[in-house]
Amino acid sequence: MDWVGVDPLHQVVSRDEAMLRSPWLHVDWLPTPPESGHYFWWDEQGLALKSADFDSRSSVHIDFVGGAQARRVKAVTGEALTRALGCQKGLRPAIVDATAGLGGDLSVLANIGCQVLAMERHPVIAALFNDALRRAQEAEIPWCDRVTFRHTDSTEVVSKVSHGVIYLDPMFPKERKAAPSLSMQVLHALLDAAEPADRLLEAALDSDAARVVVKRPLKAEFLGGKVPSSQIKGKTVRFDLYPKRKLNETDRGPHDEVAFS
Ligand SMILES: C[S@@+](CC[C@H](N)C(=O)[O-])C[C@H]1O[C@@H](n2cnc3c(N)ncnc32)[C@H](O)[C@@H]1O
Repeated sequence: MDWVGVDPLHQVVSRDEAMLRSPWLHVDWLPTPPESGHYFWWDEQGLALKSADFDSRSSVHIDFVGGAQARRVKAVTGEALTRALGCQKGLRPAIVDATAGLGGDLSVLANIGCQVLAMERHPVIAALFNDALRRAQEAEIPWCDRVTFRHTDSTEVVSKVSHGVIYLDPMFPKERKAAPSLSMQVLHALLDAAEPADRLLEAALDSDAARVVVKRPLKAEFLGGKVPSSQIKGKTVRFDLYPKRKLNETDRGPHDEVAFS
């Protein structure tokens, strides 16, 4: 499928070089925004996604170098997420993030020392994340070295995981009451919110990972109706834990992505 992009500063060289990293995406670059639909935006901040249906100043743009996500990464040490994934003094398990999305959670986990293999199946989200990772690597943000990223559907891959923790954060059902952030509105419009994640959980539970963790809205039903052994609750979300064995030293090592090819 072809996507549309706008490059107002005509940064053809830097744009083409960066897009070589996302070979799955073909973008027709235009001088001005289209009248409808989503489109990519390229400027000195790198790749972003905008929508003709929203104010043109708003965009989905991942930034691990400055801004809110960079601050979150630095601030987190022992929040519900890291406890749920089994991070404890002296132990940083290797994580397979099977639903990488915008990379918010995995950047926190990599920053505290976890090796992360991240997978994202949506070509647009994957390109936005890949470009953000490129910029963070260029800025020599240390945690990036612990992240390996693949644009793929993780369902087939997770059953082959041999150790560590599998983390699933499938798209939440659309909120009816509170207006979600613009990036969530765009993401919901772009992604199929009703994506079936039950099969992903089944595949993860079939693996040799020490633990599978699922992030859910506080009051949501259990994914696939599968009752977890325990839960860790945050302010707005909870983590359902499906342990298969105790985490140990063997769970530290990075996941060999070649083994999944
Ligand atoms: C709620 S978002 C994840 C947010 C992420 N945890 C973060 O902190 O930014 C869910 C993402 O999972 C992706 N996804 C869902 N099923 C997937 C699958 N089987 N393989 C790869 N990605 C998947 C969706 O495309 C979407 O981008």
